[in-house]
Amino acid sequence: MQGSPSSSYSSFSAEETIIIASQLAKSLIKGDIVTLHGPLGAGKTTFVKGIISALCNISLHEVSSPTFTYMNIYTGENPVHHFDLYRITNEEQFFQLGLCEYLDQNAICLVEWPEKISSYLKNPSLRITLSYRDANERLIEITREKK
Ligand SMILES: Nc1ncnc2c1ncn2[C@@H]1O[C@H](COP(=O)(O)OP(=O)(O)OP(=O)(O)O)[C@@H](O)[C@H]1O
Ligand SMILES: [Mg+2]
Repeated sequence: MQGSPSSSYSSFSAEETIIIASQLAKSLIKGDIVTLHGPLGAGKTTFVKGIISALCNISLHEVSSPTFTYMNIYTGENPVHHFDLYRITNEEQFFQLGLCEYLDQNAICLVEWPEKISSYLKNPSLRITLSYRDANERLIEITREKK
């Protein structure tokens, strides 16, 4: 159902968040767009690392944060495009940089700070929302959007 969480979890450590993310990774298919919502330090990149290490069969250390590059590409059997749009100014800059071409059907797209380009992301496949509960506790809500 659109708008209501399909499932929610309490995570008490970064490691637990990674396990939840790697479980979710199994359900993702090419063309899925996953948006990650939540404030600075909520755990969006941690969650992304769990997805990518499971999907691409690589260690967590090989998954880096694209903060300085806007996007990282992982090729292979399950291609993944990981966007971190925190430093993007607006949708026009996203377009000018040619990044919209990577929001495509040939990969699983994971997008941190999706609010920056909301008109490009009207129909995400999944919304992940991370909220602070405590220093190490996060509420993770996963909403599967209607196709
Ligand atoms: N339960 C938890 N789940 C995820 N991260 C946790 C948890 N508890 C503590 N942390 C810590 O919180 C931090 C989360 O950082 P992370 O880079 O994943 O956040 P982010 O949402 O991507 O931030 P940004 O908006 O700056 O990109 C890490 O230092 C991680 O170790
Ligand atoms: Mg991040």
